[in-house]
Amino acid sequence: MQDKSATALNTAFAKEVQDGLTAFPKHLSSKYFYDEVGDKLFQDIMAMPEYYLTDCEFEILTNHAAEISSLFSGDGSPFSLFELGAGDGKKTKILLRQLLKNEASFDYRPIDISQNALEQLEASLEKELPKLAINTLQGTYFETLANIAKTNGRRKVILFLGSNIGNLLHPQAIDFLIQLRDVLGDDDLVFMGMDQKKHPQKILDAYNDKTGITETFNKNILARINKEFGGNFDLDKFLHWEVYDPETGTAKSYLVSKEKQSVFIEDLELNVDFTAWETIHTEISQKYDDKTVRWLAEKSGLQIVNQFSDSKGFYKDYIFKKK
Ligand code: AVI
Repeated sequence: MQDKSATALNTAFAKEVQDGLTAFPKHLSSKYFYDEVGDKLFQDIMAMPEYYLTDCEFEILTNHAAEISSLFSGDGSPFSLFELGAGDGKKTKILLRQLLKNEASFDYRPIDISQNALEQLEASLEKELPKLAINTLQGTYFETLANIAKTNGRRKVILFLGSNIGNLLHPQAIDFLIQLRDVLGDDDLVFMGMDQKKHPQKILDAYNDKTGITETFNKNILARINKEFGGNFDLDKFLHWEVYDPETGTAKSYLVSKEKQSVFIEDLELNVDFTAWETIHTEISQKYDDKTVRWLAEKSGLQIVNQFSDSKGFYKDYIFKKK
């Protein structure tokens, strides 16, 4: 049997901790915010009044459900509706209801890394929309894109909601979009939520709520290191700090060490020294404008064929096709 440290070191998360906390400046990827606790905290974030993204996308889907569904249905040939990172499907249900009402010929294929999330989603859909044909796929976006490519014959519509693409830097986003483009046929569509540039204060408030939910969410990565790798981070000795650059549209989250301190991560046999006010960069949440989205599409061999905005112009859903 492998000893615990060897097993821990083999995981992508352990590698990220090892690399990110020995780098200068220090960093950790927001990918690892999400365990059971992190998933719940993100649900709480989506329900916060400051986190406008969810309400805006909900408004877009509600107000344009009929038009979006008819675009998805196209010439009426059967299609598969994939969703990357399906979560609880609250927003998607608006579209699913409309598609069922229109008697569209489709099945729904939600993809999520969490089997638990998929099972819950499937159970709630079976109850609420018993007529829906559903096939869940468990895995990371990239793993399951290969599966998507194998869907022969049927048209594909791929949903990527919630501005999840914003957690990728532009070069990674382009990489991701190219992989997405590579699985698209000529009549396939991508429907993607992308949060827009707006008053910088509005953005800062969304990532810096007074109730401290986002702070706990950001610090959950340290809590996970303590739990999963025997770390001894004292969470109170770190500040959650958010900055937004209105020029680039990039919101960045940091954890800032309030004092000089050393942390030991037992399973990784790793000692991490922090000077006072040293940072760990944990997340980016990119904000877009049409020009940037056109540039991303251009770089990835995609074209924008449609876009929908909420009434305040805070958020947009774009439809892309292969160029
Ligand atoms: C999942 N993702 C799009 C969220 C965002 O807005 O970047 C994660 C999040 N981070 C802090 N609040 C919400």
